[in-house]
Formats: sequence, C-alpha cells, structure tokens
Amino acid sequence: MKHGFRLFSRVIMVITVLATAHNTFAQGDLPTDFLSKDFHAERRQKLREKMPPRSVSVFFANPVRNRANDVDYVYHQDPDFLYLTGYREPNSMLLIFKEKQKFGGQEYDEIIFVQAKDERAEMWTGRRLGPGGVTSRLGFNVALNGAEFSRYPVDFSKFDQVLFHDFENDVRNERDSADLYDLIIQFKAKAGYPDKNKALLGTEKPANNLNVKMLSDLMDGLRGIKTKEEIDLVNMAVKVSCAGQVEVMKALKPGMSEREIQGIHEFVFKKYQAEDLGYPSIVGAGHNGCILHYIDNYRPQVNGKDMILMDLGAEYRGYTADITRTIPISGKFSNEQKIIYEIVLKAQEAAMAVCKPGTTFRDLTAATRKVVAQGLKENGIITKDEESGKYYPHGCCHHIGLDVHDRGPYEKLEENMIITIEPGIYIPENSKCDPKWWGIAVRIEDDYLLTKNGHDHLSKPAPRTVKEIEDTMALPSALDDFVLPAIKDRKSTRLNSSHT
Ligand code: GLY
Ligand code: MN
Ligand code: MN
Repeated sequence: MKHGFRLFSRVIMVITVLATAHNTFAQGDLPTDFLSKDFHAERRQKLREKMPPRSVSVFFANPVRNRANDVDYVYHQDPDFLYLTGYREPNSMLLIFKEKQKFGGQEYDEIIFVQAKDERAEMWTGRRLGPGGVTSRLGFNVALNGAEFSRYPVDFSKFDQVLFHDFENDVRNERDSADLYDLIIQFKAKAGYPDKNKALLGTEKPANNLNVKMLSDLMDGLRGIKTKEEIDLVNMAVKVSCAGQVEVMKALKPGMSEREIQGIHEFVFKKYQAEDLGYPSIVGAGHNGCILHYIDNYRPQVNGKDMILMDLGAEYRGYTADITRTIPISGKFSNEQKIIYEIVLKAQEAAMAVCKPGTTFRDLTAATRKVVAQGLKENGIITKDEESGKYYPHGCCHHIGLDVHDRGPYEKLEENMIITIEPGIYIPENSKCDPKWWGIAVRIEDDYLLTKNGHDHLSKPAPRTVKEIEDTMALPSALDDFVLPAIKDRKSTRLNSSHT
C-alpha cells in the first residue's frame, strides 16, 4: 500500500506538468458557448454540500454502444456526468468526496479519471482531452488516466456512505484495459459490491455502506432548478426548434414525405449549429399521429386532407427543447380538425393560466384533463368524463434540460424550473365515435420557464393558434424553388419536389 502512495504522488506531479502542456485543440475547432468550467465546479460544490457526512459520490460516463460490427452509435454523455464535469468523452469516472481527503501528500475533495491521450486512437475516433486538457479546460485540480484507478489507494469501507447510480450491466468490455468496463469492475471490487455479476442492488436492504438511491434525489434537486447559464442554453435550443417549426409551416406541401419534413426541421437545427436532437424526431401524418412516440417517419407522401403532428427538439450544448405543433397539410384546418385543435389549445391555456410557483404538476394535468373531457363530451365523442383517458392517454408536463424528460422534483413548481405543457387528443381509426373524427391526432407542446410569479413562454415564436398557423403556412418558403433531379432507377424513390 505504501508503494501505491509513493507511485500515486509521482503520478499527481506528472499530471500537474501535463496540465500546462501543449493543447491539441485549435480554438476555432470548438464552439465557445458550452457551459463554463465554473458552472461545473460550482455544481460539484453544491452536490458536496448536500451529501451526508463522511460520504463519497461516484459517477460513471455513459458506455459506448455498438450499432453493428465496428460501427458504434454516436456517443452521448450521461447527463449527470456532463452536468458535473463538462467531459464529453467515454470511459471516465468521477469521485466527489464530502470532506477533503489526503492521498500521497495531496489534499483534495474530487478527482476525475479520464481517457488517456493516444495518438493512434485519436486519429481514428477523435481528439481526447486527456488529464492535461481536463485540468486546463474543465477546471479540475486532480485528473488521472483511467488506468491509474486500479492503483488508486482509496478505501471505500471508511466512508459512512458510498453513493452511486446502480449498474445496468450493459457495458461491453473493449480492448482498452482502462475502459468503462474495467473502471466498473475495479470500483465494485474496491467498494465491496456484493456480486460483480449481480444486476441491481436497488431492491435489497443495503448490506454495507453502498447507497444506490440517495444520489438520484440529490441530482433531481440540483438539476430541476436551472441556473442562468442553463436557461440561456435551453432558450437557444427552444428558439432553434421554433425556427424549425416556422420553416416547415412555410415549406410544407401535400405529397412531401414524412422524412423530408423531418429533414427540414433538422436542417434548421444544424444551420443554427445545434449538435444533436434531444430525442428521435416524431413526424406523423394522419393516423400516424395517434402513435405517441412514432419515430419511423416512413410515409412517402403526406395527404392534403390530413394533419401532421411534429414533435421535435434541437439539442444545443447538451440542452434540449421539446415542442410539438400539429398543422393541416393543406394549409387550412377542416371543420373537424379545427374543433379538436381548439379543445387541445384551450386545455393547454387552462394549464398555462395556473403555471406559476406553488402549483403542482398534478394541478396542471388536472386543468388540461378537465377541458379535454368537456370538449370531447360536447362533440359526442365520449359520454362520460372517465372515457377521456382513451383519447388523452398521457401526462401533460415534465421538466426539460439535459434530458427531454429531465430530472427534477415532480411536486410543486418553483422559480427557474423549465417544463413542458403538452395536452393531446388522438382518435385512431375504428374508434367508437363518428368516423368523421377518425385519424385526427393533435398534440400541442410548449416550453415554459417558471418565473417568480408566473412563467415565461419560451416557445411562443412557434405559431400556435389556428390563425397564426394558417397565416404562416400561406407564406412563401426558400425551399419552394429547391428542386432535385428525379432518380428514375427505383419506383419508390421520388425526389423531385413537384408535389401533387
Ligand atoms: N417528445 C417526447 C415528449 O413530448 O415527452
Ligand atoms: Mn414532452
Ligand atoms: Mn415532445
């Protein structure tokens, strides 16, 4: 163990030198509006303050997930890990100690283990910050290569509580001997995890100092209330997503495909340099809108007599919007479409009227349900309030942030929460009502920042009333002249834009 300490202090010295070493990132290669290193440091401090005495919190990066053979899915960092570190690479772990710890002559209360710099690997899969970049760019004082964790002389048994999210056991063992798989195996051994092959500790009485429940509550409390920096990023994601809705309203024509419509939204997101989608885009025309999480978006031609439901959110510097608009493909609502649309709009406005600190999530849902039930009854679609769940089967509100269904307390609304309100009515074919309603599916979803006495309607720029939508759809689009040559080789491929 003594040897371990000496070796360890030498490693720390090397890291200090690395921290000032040449940095391989050219400034122009990265956006400059990520969360600041001060944000992450302050969030770690806030978590430390909430942790119980003599505890340590342990976080792991998300695993890399394989798509097929040697192709992986695009990597996305675990939101808790991103929130606390700003590190966007895999194979990493973070330890936050409640009290300062002494290791190898150094005192510190947090340490991060990250991917080692590796010229060959970086040529194939991208640049790595390495411990040096993590200290200089992300503001950590102590950062080590992942391989050092096996020698790291931490005695987890001396803590009253070791807090971590339990493992789902879906991490692959890659060739690298310091990958996430190895970090988890080593942590389990050091921490006395009862059985390294066991799936979850969650349902059992804790046999030792391992606690897999508390961290979720602590992180809910932190992430549910947004800081100024986070609000700015969510607002950017929302405004970009609103711009996508506006451009599609202008460009939409009968005969386009669901994918093409999805592509217009996502092109706008990219044009504003949003790096990702907050969730798979939902673009469903006609009865496809009745499938709540319809992400196939396969219909080759949308029909002018239908509506199209579009639920999309740009992800901007990790933060996502969540906005749904449902519009008539012809540009004009039919009588039945307008009736259902206006019930859903009225339901949303009923919830907006009470969307302020002190109101509960339950109150918001109840406000929307009441209006939907009333509207469905008035139009003979149901006869009793209790039947409305058949056509409005989901909740109406959730936090957004680093996740689309973000962490946060789901009790009373508080200032600086950001939530959605998203009532809907979905009437599938063959429902027990007049067939004139069949295939109508409407969801209206907006994003709101809770202010001291009310809310700021962040997604207001996306047209929402019947008049706003019809007026926007009547505007010309730059895409009206975007005509691609027809590709005649296959019958099912229809690429020119002479929509019928
Ligand atoms: N886009 C998923 C949801 O609205 O909750
Ligand atoms: Mn939502
Ligand atoms: Mn949504």
